[in-house]
Amino acid sequence: MPETYEPTEPFAKKMDANDALKHFRDKFYIPKQSNGEDVIYLTGNSLGLQPKTVRSYIEQELKDWETLGVEGHFKAKNPWMPYHELLTEQMGKVVGAEPIETVVMNSLTVNLHLLMVSFYRPTAKRHKIIIEAGAFPSDQYAVGSQIKFHGFDIGDSLIELKPKENETCLRTEDIEKTIAENGDSIALILLGGVNYYTGQAFNMRRITEAGYKIGAVVGFDLAHAAGNIELKLHDWNVDFAAWCSYKYLNSGPGGIAGCFVHERHSENFDLPRFAGWWGHDKETRFLMKPEFVPIKGAEGWQLSNPPIFQLATLKASLDIFEEAGMKNLVEKSIKLTGYLEFLLGEIHDERISVITPSDANQRGCQLSIRVKNADKNLFKAISDKGVIADWREPDVIRVAPVPLYNSFADVNKFAQILKNCLA
Ligand SMILES: Cc1ncc(COP(=O)(O)O)c(C=O)c1O
Repeated sequence: MPETYEPTEPFAKKMDANDALKHFRDKFYIPKQSNGEDVIYLTGNSLGLQPKTVRSYIEQELKDWETLGVEGHFKAKNPWMPYHELLTEQMGKVVGAEPIETVVMNSLTVNLHLLMVSFYRPTAKRHKIIIEAGAFPSDQYAVGSQIKFHGFDIGDSLIELKPKENETCLRTEDIEKTIAENGDSIALILLGGVNYYTGQAFNMRRITEAGYKIGAVVGFDLAHAAGNIELKLHDWNVDFAAWCSYKYLNSGPGGIAGCFVHERHSENFDLPRFAGWWGHDKETRFLMKPEFVPIKGAEGWQLSNPPIFQLATLKASLDIFEEAGMKNLVEKSIKLTGYLEFLLGEIHDERISVITPSDANQRGCQLSIRVKNADKNLFKAISDKGVIADWREPDVIRVAPVPLYNSFADVNKFAQILKNCLA
């Protein structure tokens, strides 16, 4: 990271000129404003942009379907039967997982439920789930419905981690304390790897360790972490994780999701699970026998044969990730978001404050800007000037410069627009 940033446009341009990843921007379609200029797209944390290669990846499958019909399952250029396997290793690299621990399937909330079927096994003594207060609503609903499904009461079985008074983020030591205090009443700890609202990245290694000490299962929702921060799910010993791919992984709206199950569970066939034919042993799947024999590892949690077009869009993006390298992306991300934070500080306006931690180890690329008195007019004003950011009730504008396609110039322009709108 440079010792000092400068708020000027020439400085931003110089940073872009020296950026080894700058050419990746050209691999994406950047939406245009009505004046023909690129928008300042800062919502890769919501929906990643379209890789220009996506169309040809889908067209390949359309062509094979057109010319081969059902035979495409075996004779397509990328045969559909094992198509999902093409993504396993690359997806694993993004989240720090071995191939046996990774599978691409379904969508995120579906995967969370399927994994909780196996990994939330409450008993009269150990039935509680820890989540972060203000977790993404779908996670709250999923967890609440699992508790009720098992005949427990949300009031008794759900622990929500709240920040200290006058703070917006959670402290790792407080999370560890809550885990230790509730000890053997906790069945499952399920946190977002990066909180969608504050942008805080949790210390997943320490939280997992704390969970193990008290015998709980530890899982993460990585919607805002996968493709954003460095992850080492295998090394951290996380039990399970799930994530969507339409945010930082650019697979398009409603894209197919990812799923991680630690290797140590790969041959634990006693784990209860909901079964479907695509999770059945590949050698004997088409014998159509009634007894379910799960595939070893994460693939054994699959239910249905996967949507090939969705796999194709994700594959297009994962090929770009492979080329760029997660480590390089994270390195640039730290500089880019550091620059954004610096520029926001330079505005010197007490109506805005950043609630995301300032420590680069505790965040990804997103900064959440709190707006005093929840004045949404500010958001409307920057939107009118070509900024695509998002407003989260009650009072936050989230902005996420993505290292694959955002530039230092984007960040500089955004800060200028924000400053002018505040003025
Ligand atoms: C943290 C988090 N969890 C869950 C979801 C729900 O995802 P899906 O609709 O793909 O199930 C989202 C969607 O944005 C999310 O951000």
